[in-house]
Amino acid sequence: MKKETTQTLGEFIIDKQEDFQYSSGELSRLISSIKLAAKVVNRVVNQAGLVGINGSAGGENIQGEEQQKLDVFADQAFIKTLSSREVVCGIASEEQDEFVTIVGSEDSKSSKYVVLIDPLDGSSNIDVNVTVGTIFSIYRRITPIGTPVELKDFLQPGNKQVAAGYVVYGSSTMLVYTTGNGVNGFTLDPSVGTFYLSHSNIIIPQEGKIYSINEGNYIKFPKGVKEYIKYCQEEDQNSNRPYTSRYIGSLVADFHRNMLKGGVYIYPTTSSSPNGKLRLLYECNPMAMLAVQAGGMATDGINDILDIQPTALHQRTSFFCGSSKMVEKAKSFMVKES
Ligand code: AHG
Ligand code: MN
Ligand code: MN
Repeated sequence: MKKETTQTLGEFIIDKQEDFQYSSGELSRLISSIKLAAKVVNRVVNQAGLVGINGSAGGENIQGEEQQKLDVFADQAFIKTLSSREVVCGIASEEQDEFVTIVGSEDSKSSKYVVLIDPLDGSSNIDVNVTVGTIFSIYRRITPIGTPVELKDFLQPGNKQVAAGYVVYGSSTMLVYTTGNGVNGFTLDPSVGTFYLSHSNIIIPQEGKIYSINEGNYIKFPKGVKEYIKYCQEEDQNSNRPYTSRYIGSLVADFHRNMLKGGVYIYPTTSSSPNGKLRLLYECNPMAMLAVQAGGMATDGINDILDIQPTALHQRTSFFCGSSKMVEKAKSFMVKES
């Protein structure tokens, strides 16, 4: 089968390194390490039913959510890979209560990046062969290089992200990322074990036909969200309504589909989760950066996601993200409500 391009992710990273002024290659090494950890996780995801990694790990994370074996495996794979290669000075993960400080050789002390990660997104889909993912967000530390990393290095607004991306372990595995200069996607050729550039300069259609929301929670939604759902379901030829509903329950998969086809993803506040469900730092911020870089939009219903000043590592937020005109429209229902 002919590939759209023969450029590998490794070659692409080196090419793009020149775009960064005074680049030391550190960010390139960091993204290469994420690529390597993604391949390790991909191998296990692909063999999940065979290698005893399905099911619960028997513990809970700080958010009281049951940890699956694959959550724990992916968390360890990313932490081990990033820390042993000394490409970051700190890691915050959905699966770790506190951030992890990377101390090692003199080299690692000079690392200027921190990573925030959702190692395995879509845990509820692991055991049933449905698409899962990994989400990552990269910041430059704000405390001095060479000192231990501090909480404030992680609590930066999304508009300070240096890079963000995700891996989607789907019918094919893709790594999609941005360093603030557009969004590019790479598909893993499993026979070679290499990611190839397959989706260059991804742009989200301004309008789409898909809305993605867990409608089972309808009764608990804010009034504006209920009204927007009704709007999506109304018949109107001019605006191509009714829209179609698609909800996988893995943010990565729902976001990826909407980015390529056009659509809006919504996880609002609910009466039982008044702050929303998704985590600002390692789910919403990276997806928001990718959306904006691809010409889309992300809001909590009122504010731009990327402008929110975080106050806690595992902070939650409501999330409206995707095609700009659809997000604007959904937001207009929320503004009316407030
Ligand atoms: P995670 O598996 O990392 O905890 O994330 C699950 C998230 C997200 O991926 C998904 O969109 C959402 O939770 C689904 O939640 P509901 O099952 O409440 O719809
Ligand atoms: Mn998640
Ligand atoms: Mn997760």
